[in-house]
Amino acid sequence: MQKGELVANGKAKSIYKTDDPKKLIMHFRNDTSAFDGEKIEQLDRKGMVNNKFNAFIMQRLEEGGVPTHYESTLSDDEAIVKNLDMLPIECVVRNISTGSLCKRLGVAEGLDLDPPLFEFFLKNDALHDPMINDFHIISFKWGTQKEIETMKELTFKVNGILKKLFLDAGILLVDYKLEFGRYDGKLVLGDEFSPDGCRLWDVKTREKLDKDRFRQGLGGVVEAYEAVAQRLGIAI
Ligand code: CDP
Repeated sequence: MQKGELVANGKAKSIYKTDDPKKLIMHFRNDTSAFDGEKIEQLDRKGMVNNKFNAFIMQRLEEGGVPTHYESTLSDDEAIVKNLDMLPIECVVRNISTGSLCKRLGVAEGLDLDPPLFEFFLKNDALHDPMINDFHIISFKWGTQKEIETMKELTFKVNGILKKLFLDAGILLVDYKLEFGRYDGKLVLGDEFSPDGCRLWDVKTREKLDKDRFRQGLGGVVEAYEAVAQRLGIAI
């Protein structure tokens, strides 16, 4: 497959055209960012680890009935994905309270959320990804009512699959963010699923094994990602 021009340069990934207009190349870089791009560092091996992590998770999700944009792995830090028309929306599910939820609502950290919470955010760094609801999505035509229902259904389906997958490896899936896009008239999971976009805690010690290590300057960021990968049986 021919690697074409750069079409998008995100904070941690770059997207390239290919000779097939329906396919793109997603390059996972070592760049690691937090606080809407205010803190950026290069972390050795992270692009490769996240590419392999993401490929593994996307395949488990497909097997579980969640349509994803993942097609195949191209190299250590590149994947071939479907060319989606992305919705400017982030879908967050929370199983345990932490992060922005606690700051926003003044609730304690570490509470079990039963049932899990679902939140929509607008993807806009300059506005710090403000929280939105179904009505904003409809009024501003960021998505349809049917797409809202599908995003909720698929995001919870992901929770069912991944909560068990991580728990079987002794890890709690605390929360995570998903993004969806349109492909052939259907909503499909896009972006990535890696420790950059979710929170993972060791079930016994509650040690953080995700990007909070970077946000909070705890060190051992990529080492923690690799430890999770190893516990899931992902060959890095
Ligand atoms: O990370 P922060 O405390 O600012 O936000 P959050 O709303 O508590 O994040 C919930 C989950 O979504 C965490 O797993 C974040 O890593 C993830 N997230 C993300 O990947 N990208 C964003 N722009 C916002 C949240």
